[in-house]
Amino acid sequence: MAKIIAGVGSSHVPAIGAALDNGKTEEPYWKRVFSGFEKSKKWMAQTKPDVAIVVFNDHASAFSVEMIPTFALGCAAEFPPADEGWGPRPVPVVMGHPALAAHIAQSVILDEFDLTIVNKMEVDHGLTVPMNLLFGQPKDAWPCPVIPLAVNVVMYPPPTGHRCYMLGKAIRRAVESYPEDLNVVIFGTGGLSHQISGPRAGLINSKWDKNFLDNLSKDPKKLTRIPHLEYMREAGAEGIEMVMWLVMRGALDDKVDEVYRFYTVPASNTAVGHIILENRKRAASKSKRIAREDGRKRPNAAGKSRQAAARKASSVFRRSGLPVRRRKRVNSII
Ligand code: DHB
Ligand code: FE
Repeated sequence: MAKIIAGVGSSHVPAIGAALDNGKTEEPYWKRVFSGFEKSKKWMAQTKPDVAIVVFNDHASAFSVEMIPTFALGCAAEFPPADEGWGPRPVPVVMGHPALAAHIAQSVILDEFDLTIVNKMEVDHGLTVPMNLLFGQPKDAWPCPVIPLAVNVVMYPPPTGHRCYMLGKAIRRAVESYPEDLNVVIFGTGGLSHQISGPRAGLINSKWDKNFLDNLSKDPKKLTRIPHLEYMREAGAEGIEMVMWLVMRGALDDKVDEVYRFYTVPASNTAVGHIILENRKRAASKSKRIAREDGRKRPNAAGKSRQAAARKASSVFRRSGLPVRRRKRVNSII
């Protein structure tokens, strides 16, 4: 059975792609941004997903104001980088996973989420920049196939955060009903607060962003109740991209482990936010397996108190502002 093992949230600023493509990553302005993703790249290299589902928005590259699907699932075998005005980015063609994508389309549509099926699509910075941040800048090929899910956040009305969250749950059911053993990581991209035009251009609201990240980890249902107007007012016109993070969050367990978080302001016009959330199931089944190999059925009292101490330590690290959960786990994973 396929399963979703983790979710990644990441901003998708086009200037980050331009900095990579033009060799500017060592400049202090950009180093500040890229250094926040070093641990994430290590995490990804160790996690080695078989497939990534990338929830992103197209910025009038594949679609135009003539036709904008609310939710569009990429079922093609490949997705070339789009020309966003400076020629296509020098990144590898994104290879799809048509079999899993077709299965997700069938499962999700029969689950009453009416997706648009896309069999030909070029992908813009909304998808390629988060891929770079997590997978680096490979020359020939991305390390795993990708299923793009484009969400309309560029023309009113975008879907609600609640709809996005529920779609994430339907995607999870779809993935879990796919017979092949595949480990899937799901990305939510865009945001955080930013507004790129109009009288409030340059708006950034770090307090609101950080609260969003806190709730994304611990109380995502609260986020599903945020109306569009609040995103616009608090996070700027383009802050609405953040609803896409709720598709990712909906696809995860209610309780997750936050393994990494990064926030920096600004990159171009945008507050860059990043989070990695892991489903606990994998750890739980692993510890059960270990317990079985030990001949023990469940953790003994000492084991339980060690777990409680680890949980307490993790909350201390979080309060201290360190972007990690358990020191021991992070050291071993990242
Ligand atoms: C910027 C951010 C975006 O999310 C985007 O799609 C385009 C531009 C920016 O910060 O410049
Ligand atoms: Fe954007």
